[in-house]
Formats: sequence, structure tokens, C-alpha cells
Amino acid sequence: MQVLVIGSGGREHALVWKLAQSNLATKIFCAPGNGGISQLAECIPIKADDIAGLVEFARKERVSFTIVGPEAPLSAGIVDEFGKQGLNVFGPNKKAAQMEASKVFSKALMHKYNVPTAAFEVFDSAGPAKQYIEKIGAPCVVKADGLAAGKGVVVAQTVDEAREAVVSMMENRAFGEAGSRVIVEECLQGQEASILVFTDSKEVIPLVSSQDHKRVFDNDKGPNTGGMGAYSPAPVVTRGLFQEILEKVIYRTIDGLLKEGITYKGVLYAGIMITKDGPKTLEFNVRFGDPETQAILPRMKSDLLEVMLAASNQTLSKVIRAGGIRWDNRACACVVCAAGGYPGEYDKGLIITGLEEAAKIKDTVVFHAGTVKAQDKYLTNGGRVLGVTGLGRAIKDSVGKAYEAVGKIHFDGMHYRRDIGAKAIKDKERT
Ligand code: AMP
Ligand code: GLY
Repeated sequence: MQVLVIGSGGREHALVWKLAQSNLATKIFCAPGNGGISQLAECIPIKADDIAGLVEFARKERVSFTIVGPEAPLSAGIVDEFGKQGLNVFGPNKKAAQMEASKVFSKALMHKYNVPTAAFEVFDSAGPAKQYIEKIGAPCVVKADGLAAGKGVVVAQTVDEAREAVVSMMENRAFGEAGSRVIVEECLQGQEASILVFTDSKEVIPLVSSQDHKRVFDNDKGPNTGGMGAYSPAPVVTRGLFQEILEKVIYRTIDGLLKEGITYKGVLYAGIMITKDGPKTLEFNVRFGDPETQAILPRMKSDLLEVMLAASNQTLSKVIRAGGIRWDNRACACVVCAAGGYPGEYDKGLIITGLEEAAKIKDTVVFHAGTVKAQDKYLTNGGRVLGVTGLGRAIKDSVGKAYEAVGKIHFDGMHYRRDIGAKAIKDKERT
């Protein structure tokens, strides 16, 4: 069948790379894709948010199945629009995508269905939000309700910082309408982990656990980014904790949505803080994580396309009866190579060298995020440029592999964290 993947990041390269291994896929298109993706799929110059253009393309080219990578088109209702045309698509519909598009919606659902999360209050004007901050004191967390490209959360260490966040979001509208409502919530302490599951709203098949690195510099210093690296599994999520997260977070959420008349199909991503009082939900995403996907999919042995089709067709029970998803026991780590200046301003169009040498290293894959192919060269074309991924027996080995490949790669200004997986390696040594 002909498959269309929507998006242009490292996550989409990992998806296309894995889908290309499926016997079911005869041709893969990617809109708009990137330099690396263009080696595996036909890249189509249609933007991920051009829903009408994408519907038209899928109809014209007889695309049998479309996979949506980023959250913006999902929140804008791309799944509903494809559905109206009888086109099969992987991802939640517009109502279900509110789990990411509106933090107020997802917190209210968590509250109603007893999903563990930080204590919170919702505000639709700045005055009462500031008063509440005075009352609870710092640290506390201020969140814009709507989508803000990962920048709408401020973990404030002081009351002033929290008040400033409210002013920026609500009064100065730093994120436009996304800041018309804010949440002020309790600051949780602990280690974070990402739990992703496939669901068709009736059945759930979890993926392996993973952990992201959001801050730009080593030791979790500097501003937040889209993610500077990831590893899988996350040893902090023990077998018992994994089960607890499934029961208290995932099942309650999907059942809760169903009770609200919302059928959730696709992948559901729960950001979890492992606190001393147990796992608590930080956020939901309605799509694969980036760069978690780059650390998860190399471990997947089963056919990704088959599982995705089953999620969309509500036949995941068949996949479960056939033994579920098979995973490689090895660990996987992804190190993001970013452009100089990222997450602030950065240049584009710089030549990337060493990709061929890196490709020769066994058990590594270089996923492209912000690249473009120009004749026979790859140029930088974004903030996060590459996701260099390694597989190894333990996390330490997978990290070693990834850094070995990173060592071959160069572009002017390239920077990356040198401590990907360090926490997990330390935890392992302690036990
Ligand atoms: P979110 O988009 O809600 O996941 O927030 C982005 C990041 O902010 C999370 O990955 C956490 O590192 C942090 N964060 C969010 N909510 C809280 C909280 N209640 N307590 C502590 N940190 C938080
Ligand atoms: N890695 C975090 C995210 O995809 O939102």
C-alpha cells in the first residue's frame, strides 16, 4: 500500500525508516520531509498544516494510509477531514487531540477520572492567578492552556518569576490565544519518563519506556529545547511502576475519554514524573515524542505499519492475540546535534560532513531532523539538525555507540549534550 507520513523532523525520519522495513508498504511519501527522509521516501512540498492540500494529495495519489507526526495538524482536525473523504489515517481526531491542545481540558479530564497529576487551578484572568501564586508561593509551575511549541510551561523558582510568566502569557499574550487561560500548579520533584502507548480506544499496547533531555546544556542547565537526546528503556520505570502507570494513568485516561464520548485512536504519550508519592502525570501529547521516537523505534522488531493500521481500524486485539509487539532487549540512545545558537537564533545552510563515516559504524543510525539535500551534500536546515542513535547491550553501550558516530560528524557551530543517559547509567551503578 502507498503510505504518506506528515512532518519533517527527526521523529518523522525514524517513522519513515521503520515503515520502509514493512512488507506492506509499497511506496512512502513524506510531506514535506527532510534531507534524510528523501533517501527513503518521495518528499512532497506540502506543509504539515496545509490540510486541504494534504487531503487532495492523498486522494489523487491513492494513498491508503496517512500517518500524522506533529500535533498542530492533529489539533486542527486533520484526522476528521481525512475521515470525511473516506481516507484512512493514524492519529486522534480533533476532539481527542484536545488532550495536548488544551492543558485545561486534559487537567480537567485527569481530575474527573482520578488520574494522578499535580494539584492545580485554572485562571482566565491575570489578577486572580497572581493572587493564587502569592498564596501558594514558589516553586510553582505556570502553563499556558494552548499549544505554544513547547515553550508554554514555566517552572518558576520564585514568586516573581511565576508572576512574570502570568504577565507574559496573559497580559502580553506571548503565545497569542494559547495564553488566554493559564494553569498554576504544584511543582513536582523527581525523575521524568515518557510512556507511549498505541491505542484504538478499546485496547492498549504500550511501547517501551524512554526518557528525554529537555535542557540545552549538560547537567540539565540552560533553556528548554524540543529535546536534546533520549534513551530507552528508562530504568527509573521499573516493571511495577510501568504497570502502575498503565493502570492509573493510561487506562483511566482512555476510558475517561470514552465516557466523555471521545474515541482516542493513535499513539498517546504520557509525560510522567516519578515522585516519592508515585507516578504523576505532567502532560499528555497526542503523537510520538521527538526525540523519544528515535530511541524507541530502533528497538521495535514488529512491523510498525501493521500495528498502526490495527490502531486505526480498531483491531489491536488481533495484534495482542498474535503476541503483541516484539522488542529488541538492547538499549537505544539518541544524541541530538544542534545548530550553533539553538534554541535561540541559528544559521542554516551549513555543510554537514562525516555522515558516510558515521553510517559505517555498526548498530547506529543517523536520523535527520533539520537537514536539506542539495545535489550530493546535506546542509543544515533547522535548530535540531541530527539525531544520532546507537544500540547497545546496556544504556552505557548504546550511548557509547551514539557518541562514536557523533564523533565523525561535523558542521560549523554544532553542539550537543555530552551527558545523554548519564542519570540512567548512574542509577544502574547504584543498584
Ligand atoms: P509539559 O509541557 O507540561 O510537559 O511541561 C514541560 C516540562 O516542564 C516537563 O517535561 C517538566 O520538566 C516540566 N514540568 C511541567 N509540569 C511540571 C510540574 N508540575 N512540576 C515540575 N515540573 C513540571
Ligand atoms: N520530547 C518531548 C515531546 O516530544 O514533546
